[in-house]
This record gives sequence, structure tokens and C-alpha cells, in this order.
Amino acid sequence: MTRHSLIIDCDPGQDDAIALLLALSSPDELEVLGITTVAGNVPLDLTQRNARLMCDLAGREDMKVHAGCDRPLVRDLITAENVHGSTGIDGVEIGTPRTPLQPQHAVDFIVDTLRGAANESITLVPVGPLTNIATAMNQAPDILPKIRQIVMMGGAMREGGNHSPSAEFNMLVDPHAAKIMFDCGRPIVTMGLDVSHQVLASRARVERIRALGNPVADAACGMLNFFSRHDSKKYGADGAPLHDPCTIAWLLRPEIFQGKHCNIEVETDSPLTLGHTAVDFWGVTDRAENAVWMFKADADAFYELLIERLARYGSA
Ligand code: BDR
Ligand code: CA
Repeated sequence: MTRHSLIIDCDPGQDDAIALLLALSSPDELEVLGITTVAGNVPLDLTQRNARLMCDLAGREDMKVHAGCDRPLVRDLITAENVHGSTGIDGVEIGTPRTPLQPQHAVDFIVDTLRGAANESITLVPVGPLTNIATAMNQAPDILPKIRQIVMMGGAMREGGNHSPSAEFNMLVDPHAAKIMFDCGRPIVTMGLDVSHQVLASRARVERIRALGNPVADAACGMLNFFSRHDSKKYGADGAPLHDPCTIAWLLRPEIFQGKHCNIEVETDSPLTLGHTAVDFWGVTDRAENAVWMFKADADAFYELLIERLARYGSA
């Protein structure tokens, strides 16, 4: 298997946090060059802190964590404390992170890292609003050939929206940034709600994680229990969808997911359907394919992978 060199752009968020823990447990396959943070689930000062806390937890205080844009390109910031709690990662103990915050702005880090890399060598993994990624693309279009692929979480087709009737949260927060990314011309793998709603952190799965008995697994269970409370009530499901870890799981085990090359466009104008992802799944337009839309996930295989990787942090 080829090792992926990646930058994870996130807004932790419990599910972002678990995506980070999954990525940092897999150094043979994933070289995480840095973690960039953006305003989204909670404001930027909390997302950067939460990313650093996850690095502490994973024993990766050497990781480069950069804070980026504190508001979307055009719109005012929407946050989601109703889902994630006031800290963004309610359910886990919050202290002062040991992992330092890098002084460089996340956008400059993305631009410099890509400029210093070979063509088609870096994978971008955005799992929050796309503000940092779009700003980097706007500021430095010369970085585009350096991107091997973008593996992102956002959008909804069959599931409908989770933050408005039409829109998934990351798309709704910064639809203008999402449009820039979908138009960028590089390969894009899209993990939307259609797949993330198939990988539910059921009580039985959370108990299996708890049984691992290491501090990372305990923290993951605390976060999942909090996260599940809101979503179980909302969807009437046994457990919350683990949205963001789908991206990392695909890099590790692409066979867990099924997808289709499609054209995907994001609504940026309509007040009613702002942030809607128009996925041309059946090819009914002549718009060019610009992304792979993932539509199916093997939930059991996904949790086997997650549990196997969290076990690497130690056993009971
Ligand atoms: C996405 O929005 C956030 O609340 C989650 O972290 C995830 O990235 C799901 O709609
Ligand atoms: Ca997120």
C-alpha cells in the first residue's frame, strides 16, 4: 500500500476528534504533515485547542497544529454547540494542551507545504467548512497540481440536510468555499451524510471501544456518548453517525465504501436551499464529473477498523 502524505483540516467536534485519533494511530499508511483548524462546529479558538488536545491524547505532541480562518468567506459563522456541546468535544476532560499552537496561519502552512511538495503528492482531508482550503486555492492557484486528491466530509443527497432541510452543516457554513473546492479540478472523494448515516456508533460498538480500556478509547467513548445523545434523539437511531472518520477510513480501507463519479455543485444563492449539494448521480446533466460521491459503507468493517486502530493506543 502507498503511504499517503496528508494535511487534515478540521473543526473538532467529537467526530473530527475521532478522525484525528484514527489517523494518528496509522503511521504506516498515513503521514500526517500537519493539522489545520477552521471555525465551524465551535469558534476557531476552541477548534485549535481541541485539535491540540487530541494530539496530546495520541501521544503526538510533536504534531504541527495551525489555526486558520475564523469565519467563512462570505457568510457569518454558524456554529453547532447544540450538537457538540459548548467545548466542541463535550464528553472528554478538557485541560490546557501540551501540543503547541504553531505561529503560522493554517492557510500559509497549506500553501507552503504544497509548494514544497512534488506534483500530485499531497492528500487534503477537509472535515469541516472549506474556508481554509478555498482561501489557499484562491491565494495560490499554483498549489493545485501538488494535490494528489481531496478526501472530504460534506454534502447530502438521499439523506437530506442535517442543519437545514437541504444542507449538510459543512456545506451550509461556507457554501462559497465549498464551490471553490468542487471547481478546483483535482480528484475529490466526497463522504456525505448518505454514507456517514450508515456508520452509527451504536451502544454495542461503543461498549466494544470501552472494553479496550486505554485512555484514548475511554476518551473516545466519552465523546461518543455525548455526541450520540443529540443524534439518537434527532434521528431515532441507535448512536450517532461518525461523519468525519469516514475520510480516514477510506484512505486506510477504500473497500469499505462504494462510490460513483458524478458532477456535484453547491448552491450558493438560494436562501431556501443554500449549501445544498446537487449530486448528478444518474448523469442527467451534461456537467462534467468532478468528484466521487460515496453512497454505501460497510458499517461493521468500518468499526472493526476503528476498534483495531484504537486498540493500538494500549490494551486493558
Ligand atoms: C459535519 O458537521 C459537523 O458537525 C461534523 O463535525 C461533520 O464534519 C457533519 O454534518
Ligand atoms: Ca467536522
